[in-house]
Amino acid sequence: MRRCLPTTDSGPATDAVPDRRQFLAAGAGLIAAPMLMVNAEARGVVRGGGSTAARSARFQPSEGTQTVTLNNGVEMPILGLGTFQMTGEECERSVLEAIQTGYRLIDSASAYDNEEAVGNAVRRSGVPRNELFVTTKLWVSDAGYDRARTAFERSLELLGLEYLDLYLIHQPYNDVYGAWRAMEELYREGRIKAIGVSNFHPDRVMDLIIHNEVRPAVNQIEAHVFHQRTAALEFLQEEDVQMEAWSPFAQGRKNFFQNEVLRSIGEKHGKTVAQVALRWHTQRGVVAIPKSSQKAHIVENFNVLDFELSPEDLAEIAKLETGTSVFFDHRDPQAVRRIAGMRPNR
Ligand SMILES: NC(=O)c1ccc[n+]([C@@H]2O[C@H](COP(=O)([O-])OP(=O)(O)OC[C@H]3O[C@@H](n4cnc5c(N)ncnc54)[C@H](OP(=O)(O)O)[C@@H]3O)[C@@H](O)[C@H]2O)c1
Repeated sequence: MRRCLPTTDSGPATDAVPDRRQFLAAGAGLIAAPMLMVNAEARGVVRGGGSTAARSARFQPSEGTQTVTLNNGVEMPILGLGTFQMTGEECERSVLEAIQTGYRLIDSASAYDNEEAVGNAVRRSGVPRNELFVTTKLWVSDAGYDRARTAFERSLELLGLEYLDLYLIHQPYNDVYGAWRAMEELYREGRIKAIGVSNFHPDRVMDLIIHNEVRPAVNQIEAHVFHQRTAALEFLQEEDVQMEAWSPFAQGRKNFFQNEVLRSIGEKHGKTVAQVALRWHTQRGVVAIPKSSQKAHIVENFNVLDFELSPEDLAEIAKLETGTSVFFDHRDPQAVRRIAGMRPNR
């Protein structure tokens, strides 16, 4: 069954709920594990906690890859490819084109139903595993200690990888503390190189920091010129948590690509609206993961680190702030209810 994708990646649509509930009710998570192992073995994935080499591997930036350093010393590319709303062949082709263009960071999620496609592209690229930085995310229904461990194995097997560079709790809902304990263990085992969160407001980040041992390395949140998240950025910088911007183009909403301020700044630098926006993110020290399924856009979005926005440019962009999300607020009870009702299509 194919699921309808919503316009923000708050997860899959509700049509898959009964399948998932029946699956869990039947304890099929355990039954499914050997089936997934067969697939993994067919793809040559090492089982049983990964090889010693994988456990000690870490991302090695190839020449020219600009990175930020996370609070545990791991380097992460400052620019990557988002993959929301891309599945199957389209996703595999786009990720492959991105890697061939020079992207080294790929952002996936269990809820995107594209981990297998991302993994295929990673293998087809021929780029050494330790020169790529692969992120995926734990969905709300998998929050909790046992479920998170199972979900991690499932994601890794779909990706066909021995380790993850970054694993994020996708939403600040359900048993995130149980999930975090499982992720801390996997991190200590060397099977995830960095762990983090997504869509956490500063109070939730602080609570997680105070009550756990491993500090989140990353918080991936909505950020773009219309919703700049300046207070969140300052808080995250103080707490040594890397901010990563999702929907760095506001998904094109509010006529993003026709924005006159960005267009005129771009004209001065010989750059497009998209390139100015990505330079703004990266110049703030924020990791950005623009999504594109078009080769020309993939290339355009990568050529953004060779110019500098001036203080005047930044002051003009600051005025575009609207003070609100172009999607929804994760603290809105109705949003919590809606997202809680969504289940990955497994
Ligand atoms: N953690 C979360 O809750 C969360 C939520 C949302 C997104 N994300 C992540 O963040 C990534 C990016 O966000 P997003 O996909 O929502 O939106 P986005 O990157 O802000 O915008 C994507 C849209 O911009 C278009 N586009 C890309 N480059 C362009 C260019 N140079 N010129 C004109 N149009 C261009 C794309 O169309 P084409 O494909 O035709 O180029 C697509 O319609 C996601 O893919 C996902 O990995 C995470």
